[in-house]
Amino acid sequence: MPYARVNGTMLYYREAGEGHLALFIHGFPLDHSMWLDQLAGLAHVRRCVAVDLRGFGRSDPVVEPALSMEMLADDVAELIEALGSNQADVVGLSMGGYVALALWELRPALVRTLTLADTRAAADGPEARQKRQATIDLVLDQGRGVLAAEAIRSLLAPGPSAPVQARVRSMVEGTRYETIVAALQGMRDRVDRTHLLPTISVPTLVVGGEQDAGSPPAQMRALAQAIPGARTVIVPGAGHLCPLERPAEVNEALIELFEGRKVVWWKPEP
Ligand code: MLT
Repeated sequence: MPYARVNGTMLYYREAGEGHLALFIHGFPLDHSMWLDQLAGLAHVRRCVAVDLRGFGRSDPVVEPALSMEMLADDVAELIEALGSNQADVVGLSMGGYVALALWELRPALVRTLTLADTRAAADGPEARQKRQATIDLVLDQGRGVLAAEAIRSLLAPGPSAPVQARVRSMVEGTRYETIVAALQGMRDRVDRTHLLPTISVPTLVVGGEQDAGSPPAQMRALAQAIPGARTVIVPGAGHLCPLERPAEVNEALIELFEGRKVVWWKPEP
């Protein structure tokens, strides 16, 4: 089983392919398996590694009351080096994007290209901070099932397929309670990194779901506009979890970023 010891904890990761490293960072309250379609679809162009962040999935449990984005970014930095690389194409979705931006702040030299999916640079406002606490209270009182139901309702575009719903439910219900609490507290307390956006000097892709209410297209375009030369891809018919809702379109955009070329390999024959 692929594990790496970093910063005193064991991180699980799954990998496919070879060549330059691409590192995939999942959202909340998910795990590495949200990227399985990317591992399958991009293994011919990259050594794709999808990590379970500290406390998530098959990685070690946490005792920290809060998982700061800086701590998670430092783990990712150590993992890149533990995998024998000095750079990675870093792909982060939502909470994974917060971590990717923290990595850019802490260790920019490790980032070859940056993909920010359905995420934001701003910190939580007062209302969002209150909602974090309400979510903690709800989950501790009523269990992860309510969080899974809410994730299926709010993170996916209307009418999701049964297999996609099932994947989301498995990830949410498989996330430890202490991780849910610690990650919510870490996201609640994360700092604003908007000022960093103009400093991003590597090729950057901003990708969002057309029907993502949490990070809507206008917000994703504004994020890209703040990053010199960033490209925006809005995925039709996808919600917040576009990599598993519309993997072919997301993979195409990632290949274009990684390889700097246009590909149509995923499209069906006419
Ligand atoms: C995620 O998908 O990671 C979450 O929506 C992030 C958040 O709650 O801010």
